[in-house]
Amino acid sequence: MTKTWLITGTSTGFGKSLATFLAQKPDVNLVATARHTDQLSYLDPYDHGQILKLTLDVTNRTEIAAAVQDTKEKFGRIDVLINNAGLGYFGTFEESDRDAVEYMFNVNVWGLVDMTRAVLPTMRAQKSGIIVNFSSIAGLASFTTLSFYNGTKYAVEGLSESLAQEVADQGIKVMLIEPSGFRTDWAGRSSQKTLPQIDAYQQFAARIEGNAKEAHHEAGDPDKAAAIIYDQVTNHAADLPLRLPLGQYATDTAIEKYTKNLAAFKRLHDLSVSADQPEK
Ligand SMILES: NC(=O)c1ccc[n+]([C@@H]2O[C@H](COP(=O)([O-])OP(=O)(O)OC[C@H]3O[C@@H](n4cnc5c(N)ncnc54)[C@H](OP(=O)(O)O)[C@@H]3O)[C@@H](O)[C@H]2O)c1
Repeated sequence: MTKTWLITGTSTGFGKSLATFLAQKPDVNLVATARHTDQLSYLDPYDHGQILKLTLDVTNRTEIAAAVQDTKEKFGRIDVLINNAGLGYFGTFEESDRDAVEYMFNVNVWGLVDMTRAVLPTMRAQKSGIIVNFSSIAGLASFTTLSFYNGTKYAVEGLSESLAQEVADQGIKVMLIEPSGFRTDWAGRSSQKTLPQIDAYQQFAARIEGNAKEAHHEAGDPDKAAAIIYDQVTNHAADLPLRLPLGQYATDTAIEKYTKNLAAFKRLHDLSVSADQPEK
């Protein structure tokens, strides 16, 4: 059966790789959205009527509603929503710019929330759908100079995990994508940077500058990520993982973090239990 995929942020990076991959699949209707659709001409060679390009800024709820409406008018349904659009921010917790990180929350968290809530009525009516939310390994493990980005992605993790339980009976599934560094525009143009001014934080200046310099040299290949996501959604929908780390660093870090947490929870078990009222 042909499935309709709606993707946010397809101008560059993961979104562009996914859109390019899906545009060549015979079982896909593709709704490629971007803030500026003139950046989507890379799709033209593949378009034989199965591609819809839409203007969509995920912080604009009027545009979100219009995108969902236009998708349903053209293709009649929405099978897969990919909440991909996102930004980064490098700076220490104390010195990060309040307005800039609030805007990042508006894109990474509220944009994803508003997109999902706009699509859920359609998926509930269909009694089927898959929501793919771009988190990050930074949604599972925390890093210096990324506290607010960590905050956005931990929020995506918590929202998604709860939503997955609420919609399971409706035939709707949720999958979190947790990449480590991938060769996209994220660490470069999509991440603001604030270098430390306070002496105590000078030790982090090199890390902030290093992240920007590393942009486009990361280990992860977004084209391979696109193929993996398509395969999971298309061929493994019945046992779709809630969490999918992508990249060696992501999976190693996830295993290390969960192993350490598990050991700590076990060590503290009796103390933790002792906080309850005695059983009656
Ligand atoms: N690359 C990595 O290493 C990495 C690792 C873990 C997670 N991620 C996540 O992967 C996702 C995609 O990022 P990427 O790595 O592919 O970076 P990217 O190449 O910079 O792509 C980001 C995309 O988000 C779009 N976007 C930004 N603000 C938007 C808004 N308000 N409304 C709609 N679209 C908006 C951008 O559009 P414009 O062209 O209009 O700016 C662009 O298409 C993000 O959620 C990011 O946090 C990336």
